[in-house]
Amino acid sequence: MRKSRKLNRGVAVVGVGMSNFGAFPGMSSRDLFVDAFKEMRTSVDKGFDPKEIEAFYLGNFSGDLFEGQAHQAPMLADWVGLSPIPAARLEGACASASVAFREGLLGIASGMYDMVMVGGVEKMTDLHISKVTDALATAADITYEVSAGFTFPGFYASMASAYMHQYGATPETFMRVGIKNHENGALNKKAQFGARIPDLMEAKKTKALQKGKPIPTWKDEIEFLSDDRANPLIAWPMRLFDCSPVSDGGVALLLVSEEIAHQFSDDPIYVIGSGSASAGALHSRPSLTSIPSAKLAAQNAYEMANVTAKDIDLAEVHDCFTIAEIIATEDLGFFDAGKGGIAAEEGLTSRQGPQPINTSGGLKSKGHPVGASGAGQIVEIWKQLRGQAGERQLDKSPRLGLTHNVGGTGQTCNVHIFERR
Ligand code: COA
Repeated sequence: MRKSRKLNRGVAVVGVGMSNFGAFPGMSSRDLFVDAFKEMRTSVDKGFDPKEIEAFYLGNFSGDLFEGQAHQAPMLADWVGLSPIPAARLEGACASASVAFREGLLGIASGMYDMVMVGGVEKMTDLHISKVTDALATAADITYEVSAGFTFPGFYASMASAYMHQYGATPETFMRVGIKNHENGALNKKAQFGARIPDLMEAKKTKALQKGKPIPTWKDEIEFLSDDRANPLIAWPMRLFDCSPVSDGGVALLLVSEEIAHQFSDDPIYVIGSGSASAGALHSRPSLTSIPSAKLAAQNAYEMANVTAKDIDLAEVHDCFTIAEIIATEDLGFFDAGKGGIAAEEGLTSRQGPQPINTSGGLKSKGHPVGASGAGQIVEIWKQLRGQAGERQLDKSPRLGLTHNVGGTGQTCNVHIFERR
């Protein structure tokens, strides 16, 4: 019999900070995390004394391979003046930061701590892309998948081609997700790609003109994205603009128990649902068009929060590739199986649509420093719920937000639900 899961006591997020996401030669994980930490400090409405932080959980996928630096949590804690508090690194591939977040949540809910810092950091861009791809592939099954030549673009391309076969989607279905996420990311000053696709098209035309080359004649975004030169195939049907980029970035979040939340903020954001699940590697699953751990994590989070998918005002989902966003919107119950692609085509997931997805720009446009991404999603939900998302703020004064963070091809998935009261 499945147990119904409840938090022993309430937990709120009262501060968030995020470095810029992008490629920053010369900046280490420490520099990125310090930027995030400083911003987090200033975001706490009524201020706080960092000496009151009792524990630190850090999401980091592979500082070992990306930077030659493992064991970053105690070093970052020391760097921001928190030694000797307990500090631990949590690893769940691209879901590392949501694994860390859940650990912080449980630490407070259990009564062990009243104030915890959760973070995420990854510095990926120092390595050549071939080495980055190999490092990322360690999150897959090296015995049965990587040995057969699979890398992450290949995994998600398999899911995309299966989705096309099963539901009649076309490459344009996926392109619509990229167009929408670039549209949102262009309104996010911290995003790696701060440009809409039409702006990128114009920039390319200007460059061609300046170089005296033939000026491209794309009539719209779809024609641009279908052009092999402008948007090369990475792994059919996934093209460059279907992929999240390789990124550097850091995030810091401050969690406190519900009882003391108002000491720090008049507008705390409460964590009302947390679901986590695992699954076997992709090759061993019956379906390529749904992620079972995401469905289960969502079900658990909805049950804990006592809400359904219909109640969620906005979501940040794990769009490491455009197909992943479409599958996520189905696994989370926003759309029926096979209808997520149509929803993307019809604009239902845009900022103006009934089910806004990835208002931050998502991993696709904001960037995907893998061990930090799950915490970056929470930054966006926190800002949107508090009405502080600037130009990309939703009009409808959202009350409930959801984050969906996937590790690997879904071997790990964490879903969290947040409420503004
Ligand atoms: N989307 C759009 N444009 C991108 C991009 C992306 N994901 N990645 C790079 N670019 C752009 C760059 O800005 C650059 O543009 P410019 O020539 O106008 O300056 C150009 O493409 C070349 O950039 P470069 O860094 O040389 O690309 P790359 O070939 O090294 O990397 C990918 C491209 C798609 C291979 C890489 O982004 C990738 O591997 N992404 C997936 C990461 C991943 O698997 N993460 C884990 C998910 S589970």
